[in-house]
Amino acid sequence: MAAKLKAPRGTFDVLPEDGERRAHLRTVAERRLAGAGYGYLETPVFEDTDLFARGVGESTDIVQKEMFTFEDKAGRSLTLRPEGTAGACRAYIEHGLHKLPQPVKLHYWGPFFRHEAPQAGRYRQFNQIGAEALGSDDPSLDAELIVVLSGLLAEMGVGGLSLKLSSLGDAETRQEYGQDLRAHLRANEARLSDEVRARIDLNPLRAFDSDDPGTRAVMETAPLLPERLKREDAEHFADVRALLDEAAVRYVLDPTLIRGLDYYTRTVFEFASAALGAQSGVGGGGRYDMLVEQLGGPATPGVGWAAGVERILLATEPAESRRGALVPGDVYVAVAKPEARRRAFSLTWDLRRRTGRTVSLEQAGRSLKGQLKHADRLGARWVVIAGDDLELKDMRGGDQQSVGDSEELLRKLDELDAEATTLEEER
Ligand code: HAM
Repeated sequence: MAAKLKAPRGTFDVLPEDGERRAHLRTVAERRLAGAGYGYLETPVFEDTDLFARGVGESTDIVQKEMFTFEDKAGRSLTLRPEGTAGACRAYIEHGLHKLPQPVKLHYWGPFFRHEAPQAGRYRQFNQIGAEALGSDDPSLDAELIVVLSGLLAEMGVGGLSLKLSSLGDAETRQEYGQDLRAHLRANEARLSDEVRARIDLNPLRAFDSDDPGTRAVMETAPLLPERLKREDAEHFADVRALLDEAAVRYVLDPTLIRGLDYYTRTVFEFASAALGAQSGVGGGGRYDMLVEQLGGPATPGVGWAAGVERILLATEPAESRRGALVPGDVYVAVAKPEARRRAFSLTWDLRRRTGRTVSLEQAGRSLKGQLKHADRLGARWVVIAGDDLELKDMRGGDQQSVGDSEELLRKLDELDAEATTLEEER
């Protein structure tokens, strides 16, 4: 026998039973984002590698070791997008969106790729819902985005939510702070893990994320960034916090909050769920006031977030498994004898087209008894039996009656459904 084919490591299939919850999440997210004025954006799944090297940052884990990069036939280097902000900024510049009234608000949904060690909630292909507001540094955008994500996660029923918030100030503050932090790390080099020690120059901020006990002890006395914010940045941050208080969104200030991407300035935040294991981050983001310019566009502030679709679904109660189930009120067309197959086929299409109902047709050659059992398992409300004539069976009460033709069948279905609804309402 040929070797079994499997989906690549760190990827997964979405089967119909999961499809419904995903579609629901997408509907809720789009309603909330559209309601706040975020229009839909779709960018390519792969981009020039340079976009991420410049946008996400050469020193980040993502660019250093997690990108799926390949050459096209002309030898150009392309990369499967590891995140969506760089692509959104590229599109903003490329299509001259800076000429529109600002801010320009965008949202997206789709697959992203990172070559990470797979585990529960961490995949190599995963999906994100994201939102970006470009062209204004108004603190109400930072707050609005956090309020939208908080409401979305709450509506989806994500349990044990917490929100961490901090500010990284401007590029200069970050750079000066980086120097002081490097000095602190060097002074305590012997107690650091090898990995942190090797990255003192490249990315000292990542030391805050380390689980190594020695490194953690060193970080307890490390200088903290939010204490050094410039006056405008401190005021901006105070404004964001006041707006979140106004909206009754609870947060914890975390001066060690470091995000894994280099483009952040000012506000950064992260939502975690206690319902998840080690990979507890459901969504995060922040402000990136230098990114558009860094990518060759006009100086343009921006702020946004992305949330993991799979992590949101993992952190919510799965609905009762409904594998292959239909929606109540639906119809199953059974074939009583082989000569009735054509009639059953056209009747099925007629019912679908004219009633908008979900209609299933027997398509696996079962006996009539087998078909009725199958219809019951699917949860069909009505079964139409196509033989020499047409019969309509009520799967709830068990009544069966003959109907002359498809016109009468349509009428009967509507009448019976209306009766059933009235009965239920009276109850
Ligand atoms: P991020 O924190 O790297 O931010 O990713 C956002 C979310 O994507 C995470 O909170 C997590 O839920 C999900 N996620 C990330 N990696 C994986 C993975 N390997 N498997 C499953 N889920 C994952 C960004 O991507 C920024 N672009 C967010 C942003 C937008 N900042 C400003 N605007």
